[in-house]
Amino acid sequence: MDWEQYESDELLSERAAEIFLAAIRDNPRVVLGLPTGRSPVGMYRRIVRECAREYHCFRNVTTFNLDEYVGVSPDHPASYHTYMQHHLFDHVDVQPECVHIPHGDAKDPAAEALRYEREIVEAGGLGLTFLGLGRNGHIGFNEPGSPFDARTRVVELTPSTRKANAEFFPEGNVPTHAITMGIGTILESQAIVLLVAGEGKHDAIGRLRSGTLDESFPASALWKHRNVKVLASSFA
Ligand code: GLP
Repeated sequence: MDWEQYESDELLSERAAEIFLAAIRDNPRVVLGLPTGRSPVGMYRRIVRECAREYHCFRNVTTFNLDEYVGVSPDHPASYHTYMQHHLFDHVDVQPECVHIPHGDAKDPAAEALRYEREIVEAGGLGLTFLGLGRNGHIGFNEPGSPFDARTRVVELTPSTRKANAEFFPEGNVPTHAITMGIGTILESQAIVLLVAGEGKHDAIGRLRSGTLDESFPASALWKHRNVKVLASSFA
């Protein structure tokens, strides 16, 4: 695991955007795994600045988001569909058919998770996946206790995760479940970049750095992978 420490979230975002853009330049047909949350916002802002539609950076890129809330329709203001449109997809020339995000409002969320996993395989697997880090160590929505070989599936959110995301659901109905890529799915990505920004991540960083593999701390599974870069800001 390769660690890079940054003095600010801005510097971290700059570096993350550089890695992202280099991956597209190296392979214009790259398959990307994409995160949501607060940590990647600055990265997306920089990518949009460099890659406005006219530059055609995303013409052949395929994307798979990590997760989506169950019971939340794509046009809900707090859906990850809305987040991605707002922060990235509305501003670049990605082909709509190459964008993949689990459908949180699917009639049968378990079947939707299986379909999503199949789509990743059909696309040839993930090339480069960016992740954020939950304060409890979750990656995607793989909460503590998630098996390291788990595939894309429906999961129950912990009370602390629901609390951390409550501000996005001002009407109070914070989802109880999500569809997330599994840790096993994520670990099959050829390369992984973990973004650790924002406050309250200090303990999580300490646990990750310890290198102990433990299913009660999902991000520790990343030690099993041979190509992981961690970008952490000093405020983490
Ligand atoms: C959310 C997302 C994760 C994200 C994490 C950290 O609940 N499902 O994919 O990485 O929590 O979020 P943040 O970057 O806002 O700290």
